[in-house]
Amino acid sequence: MLKSANIKLLLVSWSCLAALSQAKSYGSPDLDIDNDNSIATIESTVDPFESCKIYCNGTLLHTIQMAKPPLFSDSKTFVDMTLKYSPDKTLEDFNAMMEAKNQQPSREDLKNFIKEYFGDKGTELESWVPSDWKENPSFVDRISDPDLKQWGVQLNDIWKKLGRKMKDDVIKSPQNYSIIPVPNPVIVPGGRFIEFYYWDSYWIIRGLLYSEMYSTARGMIENFLSIVERIGFIPNGGRVYYHGRSQPPLLTGMVKSYVDFTNDDQFAINALKLLEHEFNFFLNNRAVSVNNHTLCIYSDSSEGPRPESYSEDVNTAASFDSDEKKEHLYTQIKAAAESGMDFSTRWFISEDGTNAGNLSNLSTTSIVPVDLNAYMFWNAKLIAEFYSKAGNIKKVTEYEEKAGEFLLGIQEVLWNEEAGCWLDYDIENKKSRNYFVPTNLSPLWVKAYNISDSENISAKIMAYIEKNKLDTYPGGVPNTLAAQNEQWDFPNVWAPMQYILVEGLNNLNTPEAKNMSMKWATRWVKSNFKAYTDHLDMYEKYDAQVFGGHGTGGEYDVQTGFGWSNGVIIEWLSKHGRDISTGSGSGASASRVMSVVGVAAVTIVALIAGRVLW
Ligand SMILES: *[C@@H]1O[C@H](CO)[C@@H](O)[C@H](O)[C@H]1NC(C)=O
Ligand SMILES: *[C@@H]1O[C@H](CO)[C@@H](O)[C@H](O)[C@H]1NC(C)=O
Ligand SMILES: *[C@@H]1O[C@H](CO)[C@@H](O)[C@H](O)[C@H]1NC(C)=O
Ligand SMILES: *[C@@H]1O[C@H](CO)[C@@H](O)[C@H](O)[C@H]1NC(C)=O
Ligand SMILES: *[C@@H]1O[C@H](CO)[C@@H](O)[C@H](O)[C@H]1NC(C)=O
Ligand SMILES: *[C@@H]1O[C@H](CO)[C@@H](O)[C@H](O)[C@H]1NC(C)=O
Ligand SMILES: *[C@@H]1O[C@H](CO)[C@@H](O)[C@H](O)[C@H]1NC(C)=O
Ligand SMILES: *[C@@H]1O[C@H](CO)[C@@H](O)[C@H](O)[C@H]1NC(C)=O
Repeated sequence: MLKSANIKLLLVSWSCLAALSQAKSYGSPDLDIDNDNSIATIESTVDPFESCKIYCNGTLLHTIQMAKPPLFSDSKTFVDMTLKYSPDKTLEDFNAMMEAKNQQPSREDLKNFIKEYFGDKGTELESWVPSDWKENPSFVDRISDPDLKQWGVQLNDIWKKLGRKMKDDVIKSPQNYSIIPVPNPVIVPGGRFIEFYYWDSYWIIRGLLYSEMYSTARGMIENFLSIVERIGFIPNGGRVYYHGRSQPPLLTGMVKSYVDFTNDDQFAINALKLLEHEFNFFLNNRAVSVNNHTLCIYSDSSEGPRPESYSEDVNTAASFDSDEKKEHLYTQIKAAAESGMDFSTRWFISEDGTNAGNLSNLSTTSIVPVDLNAYMFWNAKLIAEFYSKAGNIKKVTEYEEKAGEFLLGIQEVLWNEEAGCWLDYDIENKKSRNYFVPTNLSPLWVKAYNISDSENISAKIMAYIEKNKLDTYPGGVPNTLAAQNEQWDFPNVWAPMQYILVEGLNNLNTPEAKNMSMKWATRWVKSNFKAYTDHLDMYEKYDAQVFGGHGTGGEYDVQTGFGWSNGVIIEWLSKHGRDISTGSGSGASASRVMSVVGVAAVTIVALIAGRVLW
């Protein structure tokens, strides 16, 4: 049932939006990049999900991903491989092979089939050095401490390593790839995440804007707009196998960031129809009614296990005895992935209504999340703001009303007076979930609260921080206080969550909250710097308990690179670089880095000395 709704949405999106792309031909696929204010997109006669036949479900996927022992050490490898022939031919030949082997192929048979029909993973992407990359963006000049200044230069260098561009053939023959074609190059998170991800890109794009890479940032935003135009919403990441789930909706926030940096109001105005479309995707597919308030939940519209973690999900569901229960669990798993927090006790509901249990207790769709509703409020506010730039008063009123409705729902359903904070709400047990997650404070970040009430809210939030001892961790504020070995649980700390806390407290604008905000920003910068000087890497996640420690746990090894971590540090070095000092004052940590980094360091020494050698 959900499935057909999704397909209908696709058709609707095509027909409604056809008008938008004004008389562009539907002939041979072509790449259309504009330098003016129109938005680059891709047109293709190929169904954007043609390769789903291979990568999303079916016997081929099942057989290969369930081979024992596994054919790949990371389940994501197979679904990132390219096709050597069309999906139909591949399936036909696979079925013939299965028949010839009596439906019992050996591991060797499968290996041979993969060798003959699939190319290496990731070969559709090429390294790309952003053409707007700058050696010395001005944020570096705003950093006083010489060690931090040098680090800023090195973080800026990392953008060059994370740049990726799709080969032309992806746009010509998207059916041969799991990757979703986009018109412009991208900055990827790094590690096993070799394609773009939706919510990661918010912090990556802000980092790019602070690094003065406006056209790379804009290109990434255009990619997302182009995806909304073709697909109707933004999948979790740039692969067809993410087709049933999105991620926290931050596209409108990305447009806002771009416009704040460039004053290019027309860009926001041109994006409006697609931003509205994405807002409506959530409203039409993710809404629930709680105590007469319409609020949104994270969910998913596909069937089966996650293609990129197939055997893991089959194992998680093994304790359920019916296909219906297994399918229900798969939805809960994919909905947790849509939240970005895969996985966490945040989404467990035990039999007695607590957050105890394991992955089999995931009940994501029964939990009304604070962050998603705060983002829905924010999106409506920003869409109203962009419509006011366009002079469309009717639409301004419409979206202000929608924002007001979300605000009321957030106040009435998610604010918990006893806890003195917003809390996720459990629909099954009709109660707040009084467990700390940084997203509990997300309304502060997007100002989804009554601003006239700031003083009272500040007093309550400061008491909440005190009560939960959130200021006691040397390595940053942990994601939850539950240690269950899931990667979005204690003691792991994530850059975007530190960002939400720090920026949110700063918004409250009381001396206590501003103080805490600055303290946490400083601690985060210094702890990341320590990890960097120890290992010369930026991490996907860090460790609350260890100053300079990095994270572990979850489904895969900790990844380095790392897009959103770099973005947050660059923004805070830019905003607070005059006031943060590593305390060594001697450049001692810097010299350790320099001995390894070598050539780049020569440039940096010159920079610190205020001389320009090039
Ligand atoms: C795969 O999913 C699609 C819908 O997304 C469905 O139409 C198709 O029947 C499924 N195929 C198999 C083999 O289960
Ligand atoms: C891609 O797919 C087309 C048809 O679907 C096929 O003819 C072509 O050989 C494939 N290209 C590559 C490089 O595999
Ligand atoms: C919801 O609205 C209906 C109709 O307006 C009303 O009868 C009901 O009492 C309301 N429920 C709550 C929980 O406010
Ligand atoms: C989860 O815990 C239950 C017992 O409550 C157990 O039967 C099941 O195997 C566990 N599942 C996973 C995936 O660990
Ligand atoms: C988790 O779910 C399993 C399967 O439904 C159930 O047996 C178990 O009791 C649940 N765990 C908790 C802590 O409620
Ligand atoms: C906002 O707070 C002010 C001051 O406490 C109060 O007068 C007003 O009614 C509140 N507005 C809403 C919509 O709750
Ligand atoms: C704010 O706090 C003060 C003191 O606790 C209280 O008198 C006042 O009613 C509160 N205002 C609101 C809008 O809650
Ligand atoms: C701010 O923090 C400093 C040191 O942590 C403390 O001495 C000072 O009292 C704080 N100010 C406020 C207004 O909380």
